[in-house]
Amino acid sequence: MIKLDNVGKAYKVDNQWVPVLKDVDLEVKQGDFLAIMGPSGSGKSTLLNLIGFIDRNYSGNYFLEGDKVTLKGDVDLSKLRNQRVGFVFQHFNLIETLTIQENVELPLLYNGWNNRQTKDKVTELLEKLGIGDKGSKYPKQLSGGQQQRAAIARAIINKPDFILADEPTGALDSQTSADIMNVFKRLNEEDGVTIILVTHDSSTVDYCNRVVIMQDGILTEEAR
Ligand SMILES: Nc1ncnc2c1ncn2[C@@H]1O[C@H](COP(=O)(O)OP(=O)(O)O)[C@@H](O)[C@H]1O
Ligand SMILES: [Mg+2]
Repeated sequence: MIKLDNVGKAYKVDNQWVPVLKDVDLEVKQGDFLAIMGPSGSGKSTLLNLIGFIDRNYSGNYFLEGDKVTLKGDVDLSKLRNQRVGFVFQHFNLIETLTIQENVELPLLYNGWNNRQTKDKVTELLEKLGIGDKGSKYPKQLSGGQQQRAAIARAIINKPDFILADEPTGALDSQTSADIMNVFKRLNEEDGVTIILVTHDSSTVDYCNRVVIMQDGILTEEAR
């Protein structure tokens, strides 16, 4: 479903182009649970942003369901971003001034739903993720693990084709990390959600069915 073909990217630093992604080829199929590992600064987040339609300045080609993403303009890209992908971050990135219910319903409102239609849908998902009683709380009133569950709810409320998670357990203790990885695993196995996970932590890799390694902008598949 996702196919990167010879993708390259460079940043201009002090008038010099510094390559960050080099000839990256990657295919991700529907239902994959893929881990991207590699040292800090190797290009993992850059790759994730590109897959998530945030970045369009790269060389090579990106196909989604055979459709050439590389050719699309800003309007189409933001539509893809809103409808096809859910993001999960290390520091949750919930909006502190909104309740959990309001945070999770935001992507629905962006996609043209009105408030009356969203409430039951959000409540049901919060229950499924084990934080059914937290809808009226603010992010700061929740533990890290509960905030990450809320962030996962926000990421999947629109039923995206895939989740992009950038070190989602990086700020959590090991037991809470395992809980969150089990949430991802359940979504992957029971609902068939495709997940691309950037991680430093080798214990999270056991939950995935494929591992690729990023090193100095070069991506290689790990034999398992
Ligand atoms: N906006 C930017 N401008 C210049 N260099 C950047 C920018 N974003 C990232 N980089 C550089 O690109 C490299 C890869 O960064 P990143 O993708 O964030 O790595 P990782 O997520 O693997 O830690 C790093 O050397 C980083 O300093
Ligand atoms: Mg990163």
